[in-house]
Amino acid sequence: MPPDIAPPDTRLLAASADLDRLWARGRAFLGCRHAIMGGAMSWVSERHLVAAISNAGGFGVIACGSMGPDLLEREIVGTQAMTARPFGVNLITMHPRLDDLIRVCIAHKVGHIVLAGGIPPGGAVRAVKDGGARLVAFAPALVLARRLVRSGADALVIEGSEAGGHIGPVSVTVLAQEILPHIREVPVFVAGGIGRGEAILAFLEMGASGAQLGTRFAAASESIAHPAFKQAFVRANARDAVPSVQLDERFPVIPVRGLANAGTRRFLEHQAQTLRRFQAGELTKETAQLEIEHFWAGALRRAVIDGDVEQGSVMAGQSVGMVGSVQPTGEIIAELVGQAVAALAARAG
Ligand SMILES: Cc1cc2nc3c(=O)[nH]c(=O)nc-3n(C[C@H](O)[C@H](O)[C@H](O)COP(=O)(O)O)c2cc1C
Repeated sequence: MPPDIAPPDTRLLAASADLDRLWARGRAFLGCRHAIMGGAMSWVSERHLVAAISNAGGFGVIACGSMGPDLLEREIVGTQAMTARPFGVNLITMHPRLDDLIRVCIAHKVGHIVLAGGIPPGGAVRAVKDGGARLVAFAPALVLARRLVRSGADALVIEGSEAGGHIGPVSVTVLAQEILPHIREVPVFVAGGIGRGEAILAFLEMGASGAQLGTRFAAASESIAHPAFKQAFVRANARDAVPSVQLDERFPVIPVRGLANAGTRRFLEHQAQTLRRFQAGELTKETAQLEIEHFWAGALRRAVIDGDVEQGSVMAGQSVGMVGSVQPTGEIIAELVGQAVAALAARAG
């Protein structure tokens, strides 16, 4: 039968095989069915969500955040008890015990270590590679992507400013155009603002090997986030997920994208007040900067675990507009894959 009159299920099977070819490199690198990574999210990406993502054919990643080596070890062992599939661990490069955390991952045979929060130091890169794990790093620009590949990164994530959490200044559509055509040595995963399978497909066709999503998984049934946190995601539109605002260039604020709430409004007042105290000579520049930085201390935990979505930090990507309900992880992944397959099949039709 000629392909243009093939029955729909034959078309879907062919489209599914096409998708598998498009993200074959990502699947082989991660060792999973679908090249969809669950972006590590502090307080959210623990054993339940990570295992659920890996068990559903994606690739879960534990967020180490500020955990020490003992807690991380417990989380890795706990995750291994819930899934036999591969998963990764995300470590923040400025963690004071980075070397010990890498040792814990290696000792427990974690196959993929994601180093986030800056260009990874040479010693950490060597420790990951000598330990036999694969190193995944974030590339915020083409020159840095090239440098990371030269220094040993086995895969890159390009995360656009649409993402939830700490963000860079450039959108994923621009980063993808800047980086994907030029980096062929290692697989590249795209992240930020992705909520549907058609978008994943578009980036695969531009040369990506897979995608990383955070926000959609944070609202999954298996996520331990407080029901109020998940409901805030269900209610929110893309435009509600905004970057933190810096009031004065002398006092830099690290941009973080999250839902606008009473906390984000209070942060502006807090900066204004701190600035006035600095100008009045009540605070030194260093103390004023620290006062601003400390404002959000513990705020993500307050939102995720305690459910204080008014005063806490409700980190979320613009993809939050595509969270329609609290769904099981397997359903989210099946939906994303189904959308990509349907888009491919529609063309064949
Ligand atoms: C609540 C939350 C916490 C996050 N925490 C981290 C983190 O600890 N480390 C990290 O590398 N990325 C973190 N991210 C970013 C995600 O790993 C992922 O790249 C991002 O969510 C992708 O964009 P999306 O949210 O639009 O899907 C966080 C994101 C969210 C929403």
